[in-house]
Amino acid sequence: MFQAVTKTLSVASTTSACRGILLGIRHYCKKTPTKLRVSQALSGADLGANVKVQGWVRSVRPQKANVFLHVNDGSSLQPLQVVAGAELNDPLLTFGSAVEVSGILKKSPHKKQPVELEAEQITVIGECTPVDFPFKIKERHGLEYIRQFPHLRCRTNAFSSLLRIRSEATTAVHSYFRENDFVQIHTPIITSNDCEGAGELFQVKPSGPEIVEDEYFFSVPAFLTVPGQLHLEVISGAFSRVYTFGPTFRAENSQSRRHLAEFYMVEAEISFTESIEDLTKVMENMFKSATEHVLAHCVEDVDLFHKHVTPGHRDTVDAMMKSSFPVITYTEAVDILNRSSEKFTFPTDWGCDLKTEHEKYLVKHCGNAPVFVTDYPYDLKPFYARDNQDHPERTAAAVDLLVPGVGELCGGSLREERLDLLSARLEEAGLEDTYSWYLDLRRFGSVPHGGFGLGFERYLQCILGVDNIKDVIPFPRFSHSCLL
Ligand code: 4AD
Ligand code: MG
Repeated sequence: MFQAVTKTLSVASTTSACRGILLGIRHYCKKTPTKLRVSQALSGADLGANVKVQGWVRSVRPQKANVFLHVNDGSSLQPLQVVAGAELNDPLLTFGSAVEVSGILKKSPHKKQPVELEAEQITVIGECTPVDFPFKIKERHGLEYIRQFPHLRCRTNAFSSLLRIRSEATTAVHSYFRENDFVQIHTPIITSNDCEGAGELFQVKPSGPEIVEDEYFFSVPAFLTVPGQLHLEVISGAFSRVYTFGPTFRAENSQSRRHLAEFYMVEAEISFTESIEDLTKVMENMFKSATEHVLAHCVEDVDLFHKHVTPGHRDTVDAMMKSSFPVITYTEAVDILNRSSEKFTFPTDWGCDLKTEHEKYLVKHCGNAPVFVTDYPYDLKPFYARDNQDHPERTAAAVDLLVPGVGELCGGSLREERLDLLSARLEEAGLEDTYSWYLDLRRFGSVPHGGFGLGFERYLQCILGVDNIKDVIPFPRFSHSCLL
């Protein structure tokens, strides 16, 4: 536990990349400082203790007698204020540089922060040249600007807040499912099926000197998963509540603000369903439970967005949380669109797919709150969607959740559990052989079931009010983007 500081100093001074700035006083046999994260230091639990904090400099204010630094290590939005005597100042202590600071944690005389670190030693671990660094001290850079630097944008307040919120929202989703007795299933990334039937697939092929070009690695062509649904349906044949949460891939040639080639999807599958309400209940409860968790656990980070990035959005979130999400049918939705005076670019005839402009109008029409749209035309939905045989129009028991600012957040359906109807539909599409295993699920203990997928990035856009999906994922992948 006890160690001569001279030794520590000599270790620091032998590292050429490091530059130690030392106090004149030497402490022999002094207790090694306790290493703390910034958030731990800010909690005030270690007042008076000799501590060491490592992080990146977010501001430097040299004054006559002192130099003030703000140091952040990603553990909180709030940085730790470091106060050092002027003799510890150094030209290498710049905005963006990485430092290690040891000293005593004191109660701060300023209201802005509960504690500050009175530095006894500061070591610059990694230098940062301010003129070349794309972010400037004291400047509030917009999301569009920082998006140009995917390898550096985590150094900004806005993006580091986003990453903490994303992490907490992930926890919240898992907590919701755990508390509601769902079992998490790791569905495969490599698959042979195009569940959605849209053909927007990335093919997976081996590459290397030993590879024979026209031989499949697997016995069939392989693709990156479009959703995990069919694999969840397999497991839902023995587990009545399952979910998965993982990366999903779509080769959509889209530059839109709500599409990515790689995104995260939360999917749930529920057996023994009685109606589509069994799905809408889970979608609404999960949305509200996850949002409540994020608002409670990321107060400062969410505030940064709601106050500075997307001002006014908090009111929309509060309204969503208070509202009981209404349910309208596709037919009612089409009526609403056709009765409106809005000039839409895309047609709104019965049978046409709802486009983003229609979805956004419907959300506004319903009081700028989330709305479920159910019972879409049968021909618009993939082979697995359950036929609403008792409806006047030919519809399927499918449901989308539309939300403010984003449009479609969730897509789901009851699944066709009746063997005769499913095999007829697959036969019509020439897919009977491809999906013979899927038909087996209807041969052995088939039950009414259904599920949905929620686009996790769109969820973050929705609660934070972020316009562009590329701003809510650490490394966005979209057509023609550079890959880091
Ligand atoms: O509506 P989708 O295509 O539904 C399914 O894949 C279902 N088979 C899932 C299921 O039932 N288990 O996708 C679900 C959600 C969409 O509502 C949307 O939020 C999101 O995934 N999504 C995308 N998000 C970002 N980029 C894309 N290219 C997306 N495509 C869909
Ligand atoms: Mg959809």
